[in-house]
Amino acid sequence: MRIRHLVGAGAVAAVGLSLVAVPASAAPGEPGQPEHVSTTVIAHRGASAYAPENTLSAFRVGIEQRATLIESDVQLSKDGVPVLLHDTTLTRTTNVEEVFPDRASHFVGDYTLDELKQLDAGSWFGEEFAGEQIPTLAEMVEQVRGSRSGIIMELKSPELHPGVEQAVYDVFASYPGYVNSALNSGRLSVQSFDWESMETYNEISPETPTGLLGTVPVESMAAYGEWADEVNPNKNAVTPEYVEAIHDAGMKTNVYTVNDEPTMHRLLDADVDGLISDVPDVVFDVLQARK
Ligand code: G3P
Ligand code: CA
Repeated sequence: MRIRHLVGAGAVAAVGLSLVAVPASAAPGEPGQPEHVSTTVIAHRGASAYAPENTLSAFRVGIEQRATLIESDVQLSKDGVPVLLHDTTLTRTTNVEEVFPDRASHFVGDYTLDELKQLDAGSWFGEEFAGEQIPTLAEMVEQVRGSRSGIIMELKSPELHPGVEQAVYDVFASYPGYVNSALNSGRLSVQSFDWESMETYNEISPETPTGLLGTVPVESMAAYGEWADEVNPNKNAVTPEYVEAIHDAGMKTNVYTVNDEPTMHRLLDADVDGLISDVPDVVFDVLQARK
């Protein structure tokens, strides 16, 4: 079964911080984006131009900017807990080498949750984020579910994390009513570059929209459209004809990672459904200008 909507994300150099205030009149639980916006605006790894990627701070900025969905990347700790980190190793975004100088491996899956929680995942981005922890998926759900934004969760390198599909679903399902409520309001989906993993997730939870990251060949589009809901390609792969092929197969498309205005305009002209960006506020500015 397929339910429609969703998704997307990037890395930015010099972009001004312009948070979009959430109007006091907006009721809790409403979709985050302004009413006139039909494009899905997705905060990539949170609003990761403004706070360290895949941290609660980055998710908070995405929520404040009224992103439709917050994107993150999930992997399993050594003890099987879904945790949020983009890279399969800890070296780029944490101080793992300082905290565990004697460890030969820096793979996420070689560290227990207790060990991962000892790491600083914020200082690499800015001193003001010192002490920011790697979040668990559960912590993200607790933060986002009370907001007007939703979640699109990327299963990152699932071949390194056997059973991650069920573990992710179990976290979502551990919050009574959350899955149904989020699906009914278009605020929950999953995606992966590993399309077999998405097939597995579809078997576990057929009602959850699944996204295929990358470029599905046009000749295979109809077959994937039998069970998948989205094809979410890199911006450089997108043409109006490719978008049409996705739509003809009954799927939607959310494109990554889109941080500059000319590319946003090009993709919106090509009729994409969503933009995945490090700068959701800039996406909203562009959408407003096109009204
Ligand atoms: O949401 C799509 C995007 O996140 C895929 O690329 O490498 O940033 O996870 P990556
Ligand atoms: Ca991602």
